[in-house]
Amino acid sequence: MENKVIKTIGVLTSGGDAPAMNAAVRAVVRTAIARGLSVKGILRGYSGLLNEEIIDMTEKSTSNIISRGGTILRTARCEEFKNPEVQKVAADICRKHGIDGLVVIGGDGSFRGAGCLAKLGINTVALPGTIDLDIACTEYTIGFDTAVNTAMEAIDKIKDTSISHERCSIIEVMGRDAGYIALWCGMATGAENILIPEKFDGNLPQTEMEVIESILRSRAKGKKHHLIVNAEGIGHSYGMAKRIEAATGIETRATILGHMQRGGNPTAIDRFHASMMGAYAVDLLIRGGNKRVVGYKHGEYYDLDIQEALSMTKNIDEYQLEIAKILGKTVGDYH
Ligand code: ADP
Ligand code: F6P
Repeated sequence: MENKVIKTIGVLTSGGDAPAMNAAVRAVVRTAIARGLSVKGILRGYSGLLNEEIIDMTEKSTSNIISRGGTILRTARCEEFKNPEVQKVAADICRKHGIDGLVVIGGDGSFRGAGCLAKLGINTVALPGTIDLDIACTEYTIGFDTAVNTAMEAIDKIKDTSISHERCSIIEVMGRDAGYIALWCGMATGAENILIPEKFDGNLPQTEMEVIESILRSRAKGKKHHLIVNAEGIGHSYGMAKRIEAATGIETRATILGHMQRGGNPTAIDRFHASMMGAYAVDLLIRGGNKRVVGYKHGEYYDLDIQEALSMTKNIDEYQLEIAKILGKTVGDYH
């Protein structure tokens, strides 16, 4: 590790927001100040960095945010930041503002940006902030727990009306490339079918046929309602509902939960881990850490090289999926 003395830390949130990003920002600011450093907040991710939207952060600027969803620093996607020339400008802006260590809170796209800044001499540590849980180096990502609980509560409510009307309900949850939200919500609500992008081969008619067969099997045993949790990556929930209704004769409704899953007051788990990861990032920068990602594995926080983190792949747990399927099968309790 380099022995660059860190005096000022910058912090930004980037990519899709996630509940408890605020808790992480608060922890970065307060830990840094407690360690005798100054902190600059960079607004609107890499886009705000390029526009020099940089503000001084105090303990007070992070008052009353631990319980709030969203990110007080705002977030953005910035396509032009993928350009190496633009990255050089961004690194110069960091130097101009005296930022010698940077904490980037975001998903793997944001990690790539952080890696580029690290190569240009800005000591950088990235925190996994995404509701998708799709970062291979960590068992926990900031915001996932809240998003899953939000979706679970919504599905519980839909299930009530679905049972009353003896309907089939499709609930589409977020996750363009990752099925973790769908798997967890599906398990937590006892869904009969969980459709995830990792197991989708692009053949929608075939997938729908399997669902239709499972609805008919379940009906034949006397079960009157049916819950399908469908990940955004498969999508087509409204069309799916129409086709299922036409094929089974069972009234079918689709609900797309959408961005409500990204907001709301974070759970205690998210607030706790986000706080610890924010503090860890600051202490890592002080120790000379650079080009690192903070992860959580086997009950402990740890850090690894950004490129190594980006090269890892995450596979859906086959055993968890199998158990969700077993538990969601019709068992003869039709209340
Ligand atoms: P997330 O961080 O949630 O995965 P994105 O993939 O949209 O979200 O990435 C967020 C931002 O990170 C992008 O808008 C861009 O500014 C930056 N970024 C993404 N990929 C790269 C890359 N290959 N090189 C540099 N910056 C990148
Ligand atoms: O990465 C988080 C996420 O919410 C995904 O689950 C979803 O596919 C995507 O962001 C939606 O992005 P946007 O906010 O641009 O609609």
